[in-house]
Amino acid sequence: MLIKLADGNMMPVEMHKARMVQKINLVPAEERYQAIKEAGYNTFLLKNRHIFIDGLTDSGVNAMSDNQYAALLTTDDSYAGSETFYEFKDAVKDVLGYNYVMNVHQGRAAEHLICKIFGKPGGVVITNYHFTTTKAHIEETAKSVCLELYADEAVKTNSSHPFKGNMDMQRLNDAIKKYGKDKIGYIRMEASTNLLGGQPFSMENFKEVKKACTQNGILFVLDGSLITENAYLITQREKEYENKTVAEVVKEMCSLADIYYMSSRKNTCVRGGCIATNNEKLFKMFEPWLPLYEGFFTYGGMSMREVGAMAVGMREMCDIGVASAPVDQIAYFINKLDKMGIPVVTPPGALGGHIDAKRFAPHLPKEQYIAGSLAAAFFIVSGVRTMERGTISMDRDKEGNDVYAELELMRVALPRRVYSIAHVEYIIDRLNWLYKHRELVGGLKFVSEPPVLRFFLGRLDSVGDWSRKLCDAYKKDFGDKA
Ligand code: F0G
Repeated sequence: MLIKLADGNMMPVEMHKARMVQKINLVPAEERYQAIKEAGYNTFLLKNRHIFIDGLTDSGVNAMSDNQYAALLTTDDSYAGSETFYEFKDAVKDVLGYNYVMNVHQGRAAEHLICKIFGKPGGVVITNYHFTTTKAHIEETAKSVCLELYADEAVKTNSSHPFKGNMDMQRLNDAIKKYGKDKIGYIRMEASTNLLGGQPFSMENFKEVKKACTQNGILFVLDGSLITENAYLITQREKEYENKTVAEVVKEMCSLADIYYMSSRKNTCVRGGCIATNNEKLFKMFEPWLPLYEGFFTYGGMSMREVGAMAVGMREMCDIGVASAPVDQIAYFINKLDKMGIPVVTPPGALGGHIDAKRFAPHLPKEQYIAGSLAAAFFIVSGVRTMERGTISMDRDKEGNDVYAELELMRVALPRRVYSIAHVEYIIDRLNWLYKHRELVGGLKFVSEPPVLRFFLGRLDSVGDWSRKLCDAYKKDFGDKA
């Protein structure tokens, strides 16, 4: 929570204390250099033993609360009819306001079912911005085109626009006219739009999209994987909502969507997901497919224990101390980098800090995977694992050509309640060092790549020997042991 200091500055102070910890190691730069080479310059393929701070993702790696751990023990662990499922169902009703809910094994499983049932092959799905798995399912499962109707401001990394996750209403109305409800599978809004740098939409915009859906008889889907961050940012940035609680904003948002889904690996700090609705007819359309792809309806592919912990996490996630913690920590991180002149996505959003790799390393050509190169370079000089969110995260087109991403971001995720401000300060320091030596960051080329979601398993190599030189420059400044 933001607490005012005596000098007038606001400080993000954690509203929790650590009562269990896990050891981490900082291996020397030489080992990190060898490790990233062996990993094909792909941070997904690194081994944890070489990682100091893991900023790959906020997914499935958050710290659970004491009450969530307690729930693991008191779970009613049965294949069918578990009491724990009904506790979860009650939590969904109380927090999100939905009467019908089913668990799925993770967020993309929800996307699979939604695309399978509501996709219109040969048609389109409209969204404020894509997420990798969302787009893959829209294309592979729904056999549709993923149409992203964001405003121009959304892809301007250096911006002060408070709601870069908004749908562009002019573009939306044009698209509805062009395709009509028969070709539009559904309209999807993603809370705290991940690939734009965790940028929220405003409630005003969300309501306008809802209105367009209602007027045109189009299904309205909310991806609430990062819903509490979006809600907290609405209370901070939207005048009409400044006196509302996160819980109230979350409930209002949910009341507008026909179908809600989430990866529960983020806000609720467990490993799973769910789909929820208040429309019985829509719910019934999912019912036959759930046991085929996920599992019986009282567990939906999740471990029953995780369902129990999710019920608790759902009730805890709107608490101001819980909802504000990641957002305030990220704002601290981004504002400091911004002041140092390091190119970041502004304003600060959710999930982590996003470094604009195009502005960080303007000498790199887009053909050499700018954000991927930066993530590999940053690992060598810090032991911090980050994630490429750029062209490597886009799959090739049907002709086999690269599809160049609008944004080349290096995402430094800050999992919830895991890292301290000291860790954040270390990341800032090493980013600053790398920025001062940015001309040493070179490009990458693919060695092997799978056809779908290539960023997970693709292997690359450096163009030239820049990574060796970067490691040597680092060792010159910090010695052999750091
Ligand atoms: N929607 C959003 C907005 C997400 O951020 C994610 C996952 C998903 C859907 C898919 O959920 O992983 O449970 O299948 N985001 C993770 C990330 C993977 O690292 O940003 P999932």
